[in-house]
Amino acid sequence: MSYDVVIIGTGPAGYVCAIKCAQLGLKTAVVEKEETFGGTCLNIGCIPSKALLYASEMFAEAEHALPALGVNVGKPKLDLKAMMAHKDTTVDANVKGVEFLFKKNKIDTFRGTGRIVSAGKVAVTGEDGKETEVEAKSIVIATGSDVAGIPGVEVKFDEKVIVSSTGALSFSKVPATMVVVGGGVIGLELGSVWARLGAKVTVVEFLDTILGGMDGEVARQFQRMLAKQGLEFRLGAKVTAVNKVKKGASVTFEPVKGGNAETIDADVVLVATGRRAYSDRLGLKEAGVALDERGRVAVDKHYQTNVPGIYAIGDVIAGPMLAHKGEDEGVALAEMLAGQAGHVNYDVIPSVVYTSPEVASVGKTEEELKKAGVDYKVGKFPFTANGRARAMLHTDGFVKILADKATDRVLGVHIVGFGAGEMIHEAAVLMEFGGASEDLARTCHAHPTMSEAVKEAALATFFKPIHI
Ligand code: NAI
Repeated sequence: MSYDVVIIGTGPAGYVCAIKCAQLGLKTAVVEKEETFGGTCLNIGCIPSKALLYASEMFAEAEHALPALGVNVGKPKLDLKAMMAHKDTTVDANVKGVEFLFKKNKIDTFRGTGRIVSAGKVAVTGEDGKETEVEAKSIVIATGSDVAGIPGVEVKFDEKVIVSSTGALSFSKVPATMVVVGGGVIGLELGSVWARLGAKVTVVEFLDTILGGMDGEVARQFQRMLAKQGLEFRLGAKVTAVNKVKKGASVTFEPVKGGNAETIDADVVLVATGRRAYSDRLGLKEAGVALDERGRVAVDKHYQTNVPGIYAIGDVIAGPMLAHKGEDEGVALAEMLAGQAGHVNYDVIPSVVYTSPEVASVGKTEEELKKAGVDYKVGKFPFTANGRARAMLHTDGFVKILADKATDRVLGVHIVGFGAGEMIHEAAVLMEFGGASEDLARTCHAHPTMSEAVKEAALATFFKPIHI
């Protein structure tokens, strides 16, 4: 069993890399320890959460938005079992899709836990304990990430009462109360799901802002929107203990600035305080593969580790833990292994929070530009002034564009609003081509669309908007 490439892990980084390698004529194999392909994203991350986000959004819309449109369906009744079945069917279709693509591209699959014996050799231990040795010119580590927990706090996840994102995708009934530790992406997405379905959700966050790292103005407005939907926020609060109690669990936190500790009880507690690179049981130490200061696999610009012939991509290396970042690294590495020039532009990686409304951004935030001493200009446009948004009663939010003051080159785009996650890509394409706000402003946009707000924000950056 000898290959050009063997990839350990079949999440978005690994499976995309495998397909691209095969497309480029490399003899390719993958190793996967779980029952299904697709990794965290397809099985217990992006895909199931989006199924629940959409379904719960429809549930909330039926009650709160439809009557204003003249559609009276009465008070919606939740069928949680059916909602979960929809989630499971979605996951099933996606993971089967990966299996189909592996077959179509003639990629060999090895079930079991992969361990790097040395450069060129991977040992795969199956469920029955039997070991198979696979040889390959190149080994790619694409083992992803795992729940990090709270640094310095022992959290006993039972995935029923004290849960990570995995358990929060599968509650058997809607909790009456829920505390979310961590106001990052996972906390806000899954917190919104259960809030919409009826839970009283309190988010406890260490920083003074939710979505740390996002544009501050966007994060503040977004927090107000979520508060209107009933989410409660305790910011600047450091969680020091999470314990199971008789009925549910308790969360203890203290003000970061100092002061008295407080404890709140809830039916369930979701701990969403980040993820860590996952490289357990891979034999990295024995193979001499170096990690960086944060326990991630250290790689050079060509995704090669310090051991020639061993590469790494996705969540297990540095950079944002985003499926699409991993996918693009997978493609770039495959191209390099096939002797082509692969490249990922890390300045243009969009990020989307799939709440309602969505939050999407690409490029620099205003805070980052200020810190870097860049002379910039800002153009904004609210959805309240967009005809299509009014027609759909989706007027919450705005588009914000940041461009270089001297050259007009767009440096960052931030959108909070309905469909933000789709609209952000015209900004990404523009930025990939080094475009200016004037380029965007002079691009004809169909009327009436939400995207016209992007054009108007570009007009506001370049000169003046028309409709405000
Ligand atoms: P995160 O890093 O986005 O947020 C974790 C939050 O927990 C931070 O705001 C942090 O300040 C807070 N925190 C840490 N320790 C705390 C403590 N002791 N008390 C109170 N708060 C504390 O991590 P999250 O949400 O768990 O997501 C993990 C990764 O998954 C991220 O890299 C994220 O980008 C990715 N992801 C992306 C999604 C998307 O793109 N839509 C969806 C879900 C996850």
